Amino acid sequence: MSAWLETELTRRLGCRHPVVQTAMGWVADANLVIGTTRAGGFGFLAAATLNTAQTRSEIEKIIAATGSRNFGLNFHMFQENAADCVDMAIDYGLKAVSYGRGPDSKTVQRFKDAGVLCIPTVGAVKHAVKAVQMGADMITIQGGEGGGHTGGVPSSILLPQVLDAVQVPVIAAGGYSTGRGLASALAAGAAGVAMGTRFLMSKESPTPLATLERYLKVNDPQQVRVTLAVDGMRHRMIENAFINRLEKASGLGRLLIAMRSAWSWKQQTGMSSAHMLSILFKVLKEEPEALSQTLMASNQPVLLQKSMQDGLPDEGILPSGQVAAAINELASCEQIIQEIVEQAEACLNALYQNNKQGQPEAEQSRRAV
Ligand SMILES: Cc1cc2nc3c(=O)[nH]c(=O)nc-3n(C[C@H](O)[C@H](O)[C@H](O)COP(=O)(O)O)c2cc1C
Repeated sequence: MSAWLETELTRRLGCRHPVVQTAMGWVADANLVIGTTRAGGFGFLAAATLNTAQTRSEIEKIIAATGSRNFGLNFHMFQENAADCVDMAIDYGLKAVSYGRGPDSKTVQRFKDAGVLCIPTVGAVKHAVKAVQMGADMITIQGGEGGGHTGGVPSSILLPQVLDAVQVPVIAAGGYSTGRGLASALAAGAAGVAMGTRFLMSKESPTPLATLERYLKVNDPQQVRVTLAVDGMRHRMIENAFINRLEKASGLGRLLIAMRSAWSWKQQTGMSSAHMLSILFKVLKEEPEALSQTLMASNQPVLLQKSMQDGLPDEGILPSGQVAAAINELASCEQIIQEIVEQAEACLNALYQNNKQGQPEAEQSRRAV
């Protein structure tokens, strides 16, 4: 491998290639992380949809299969078992954690003392600056074209803004699936790229074929659109019958769906009634207008499970980046990473030749990679 692809990401995370497989609920399981790790990338296990015992077992499976702790754990502070996730990342000596709504600075300090790198994902410059102030070691930016919960700023605007605003290494996410994308991110100053949708559409992905076929069918990026109907936040997904129905439902209709989801989530995770009520009381006290949104937050894991685990793509949601439209086959993690690395090297070498050749020839060689 050429020196082009040795970056702060490969050095700090201890992987061979500057390619991260991001966390995706019900998708980024032990097998996907094992596939990524073996292929030389860096994988995050998605713990937001797992209980503590399941998370522990997935972590142990990865360590047993790879003989390595060079992988990360993704969780959210509003999970009931967030404290367990913090303890597990530290106790197992994992390389990194990722999160959206971040832990407080005391928790970040615990990670730092234990040598666990904090790599939050942000969708806006101000959140990147705040995360670094709280102690983040690296930042993943997610451009609005990215899958799942996503901001409104495209990667092409967000990445340079964040690179200018913070001093820590920045990883680019949202819309990446090729070596050309990796080369452009590295040339801009990023330490590497992170991809969700590309790994969701891989051979190691646990997603049932009936659901993956929906992802493969997408050929227009506009079929992967943003909706607020699931949990009140910007959520990018493939349009399907369910989402069209949900968007047309009345306020009361949506609340009923959310309450059903909340109940089903409570049953599945074993969440105590006390915890559920404490969340609702807290919201009622601090932000009463956010009550229906909080209830709707239970929609996300339950509706995701329907498509991602039960293989019922019309009964659940299909979170996806717009990049699904550019992906036509399910390759293995090894093929995905290898092709990206080879193409990025070729792009960067061709760019370098620019210094030595006349403009038209350089343009030709860049297009040929
Ligand atoms: C199906 C799906 C589930 C996701 N679940 C999570 C999650 O549990 N936690 C999280 O931090 N991000 C989640 N994301 C966001 C991804 O981690 C990642 O940031 C995003 O997919 C990057 O954009 P891309 O899809 O264009 O590569 C999810 C994305 C998808 C597509």
